[in-house]
Order: sequence, then C-alpha cells, then structure tokens
Amino acid sequence: MTFDRTRPYNELPPLPPSVDLESTAILRKCISANRALASLKVAGHLIPNQTILINAIPLQEAKASSEIENIVTTGDKLYRADLMPGNPSDPHTKEVLHYRGALYHAFRQLKDGHSITTSLLHAVCNDILRSEVQVRMFGPCKIQNRTTGDLVYLAPEGEVVREKLQHLEEFIAEDSTLDPLIRLSLIHYQFEAIHPFEDGNGRTGRILNILYLIDKGLLDLPVLYLSHYIIEHKNDYYRLLRSVTEQGNWEEWILFMLDAIEVTSTLTYYKIQRIWKLLRETTEKCRSELPSTVYSKELIELIFVQPYSKVSSVVDAGLAKRQTAAHYLQELEKIGVLESTKIGRERIYINKVLLKILTEGS
Ligand SMILES: Nc1ncnc2c1ncn2[C@@H]1O[C@H](COP(=O)(O)OP(=O)(O)O)[C@@H](O)[C@H]1O
Ligand SMILES: [Mg+2]
Repeated sequence: MTFDRTRPYNELPPLPPSVDLESTAILRKCISANRALASLKVAGHLIPNQTILINAIPLQEAKASSEIENIVTTGDKLYRADLMPGNPSDPHTKEVLHYRGALYHAFRQLKDGHSITTSLLHAVCNDILRSEVQVRMFGPCKIQNRTTGDLVYLAPEGEVVREKLQHLEEFIAEDSTLDPLIRLSLIHYQFEAIHPFEDGNGRTGRILNILYLIDKGLLDLPVLYLSHYIIEHKNDYYRLLRSVTEQGNWEEWILFMLDAIEVTSTLTYYKIQRIWKLLRETTEKCRSELPSTVYSKELIELIFVQPYSKVSSVVDAGLAKRQTAAHYLQELEKIGVLESTKIGRERIYINKVLLKILTEGS
C-alpha cells in the first residue's frame, strides 16, 4: 500500500520494519557511535559532584530541543531565570526550563525503577507543556512543511493511536539482539510518526532518546546533547523522517541518528572534560589564593552547579550565614574566579569561564 499524505496514516506499520537493519554501513557506524557513547559515559564519572552535570548540560539540551520547535531563548537568560525563579522571565525561557524539569523528572523515575511506558511519556509531555494534554483520538493532526506550509503528513487518528503506542511500548521493553542504538533510531521515528499528542511530540520524542539510552545502561546521566546535532541538520532531520514514511528509507535515517549520537557524544565528552579541567584549576587557584577561612571544596562545587550565584545560593547550600556568604562571593570575585553584576537590587556572581564552556557551540 502506498502512502497517501492526504489521509491519516493509520496503516503505519508496527516496529520492527521488515527491511535489512544491519547493513554493513549501519553496523560500521554503530561501532563508532557506541564507542563515542561509551567514552561519554565514563567521562560522566570524572566529576564527583554529579549535580554539576545534571544541572548544566541538560539545560543546553533543553534549549536546543526547544529551538527545533522555534522556542528560542539564550543560555544567559536561562541561567539567570534558573537562579531567580521568582523573577518574571519570557515564556520561551520558562518553556525551556520546563523541558529540563521534564527530563530530570523522568530520569529520576527511571532511576527509581520505572520503565519507559506510554504513561511515563505522557507525563513527560505534560511536564514540558505544563498542562494536561490528552492522547489524540479525533481530529486530524497535520504536519506541514515549515517553509512552504504544504501538508507533508497526517498522523494516525482514532483508537489506533493508543494501539500503536501500546505496540511501541512493548517494542521499547523487548529484549533483542538488534543493537540498542539502531532500536533507538526506530523508536524515535515511530514515536514521531504516531504523533500521539496535540503538541510536544518532537520534544517528548527527543527526551525519549535520552531515557532509552539510560534504560539500556549506555548512559548513567542525562547528559547527551543530541538536539544540538538535529538543529545543525534540521532539514535532513525532517527530510529523512519523511523519507522513511514515503520510501521506507530506513537505512539513511538510521545512519543519521547514529551519526547524531556519535557526533554529540564526542562534543559532550569534550565539554565535560573542559568542565572537569576548569574545576580542578579553579580548586587549585582557590586553595592557594583564598583565605583559608573562605576556601572549601563545597564552595567551589557550588559555583559549578550553576554559573550564576547569589548570596542566598551560598546560604541555601548551608555553607554560611548571609553576611559570611556575601564575603565568600566577594573574595571569589577578588581573585578573579567570579564576576559580579547587579540585576535589580540583587548582586549576582558569574562564573564566566564555565558559562562560556557551557554555552559555546550552541
Ligand atoms: N514528516 C514527519 N513525520 C513524522 N514526524 C515528523 C515529521 N516532520 C516533523 N516531525 C516531528 O514532529 C515534531 C514537531 O511536532 P510537535 O508536536 O509540534 O512537537 P513540539 O511541540 O515538541 O513542538 C518535529 O520536531 C519532528 O520530531
Ligand atoms: Mg509544537
């Protein structure tokens, strides 16, 4: 049966597709992607305080994944809003913070022993949009070409949406000899093709990628910066999703996803290496230049958990009372580790080198 873009694609076949998923090209790429990912997994353990990575890198992923959906904010605004949750920030910045919250929440659920189920993905989507979204049943769900506005795809409609999700859930849980990275590529396509929710499918599907890697033990922390690659190859991403539907062109899609994993694993690996190096250098500098009453390992870690700090961050971390906390931050500024600026009535302190590492190339 040929695909007809003017009718809901209720014939979307369940996974796995009956084509060769282990061509030489795919298997080769699978080796290098797995190798890069394995190095990233190890790098995640370089930094003893995992909060540093869990806070900062997922925020960059959140920013990039949202940007694919034209929800655009800057790294600077994000970190500021993160520091001052009470302050009004623009809706895009808020949405990106919700995305990180959704990723973090789902990550915790996996760590607590939950599996990746339809209801978990539903919760992810609700967290991203901060509203109660329903699994679609009725009404057409169109995907249009972003530049021309032409209709490119009508997602399945009616009761089959739930059935297809159920199948997908079973496929995700299944044990198989097929490499998990190949399976991830299949799963991401399938989730997007089902397009189960009114909105948030792209972002939920990209969180699903990271969750799947964690579930399979290929990553311990949600630190892969996959959406960065998708932004840089946005046209290919859309073209290849279509080409699977229209021509059954799985090979090119799988190679695309494997390359995304390989390239971003390497990129994230170097980011973590640089954070680690900076953490060591900063620790050394502070140990030798700060008064011994000010220096503590915890203080240094704190200014790495978030590139922006304020007096109450130090107080809330239980490191000092207000006045002493202010003194600590001033001392850090004096030796050039932090730079301060005033936002409203509040003085905030910026770990500029860290901020640069985090936001570079994104
Ligand atoms: N031809 C297509 N077939 C299937 N999925 C597609 C196609 N084109 C785009 N998509 C997916 O749909 C997503 C956009 O869906 P949407 O529900 O608006 O996500 P979000 O709200 O996260 O914006 C894209 O990011 C992509 O993952
Ligand atoms: Mg959208």
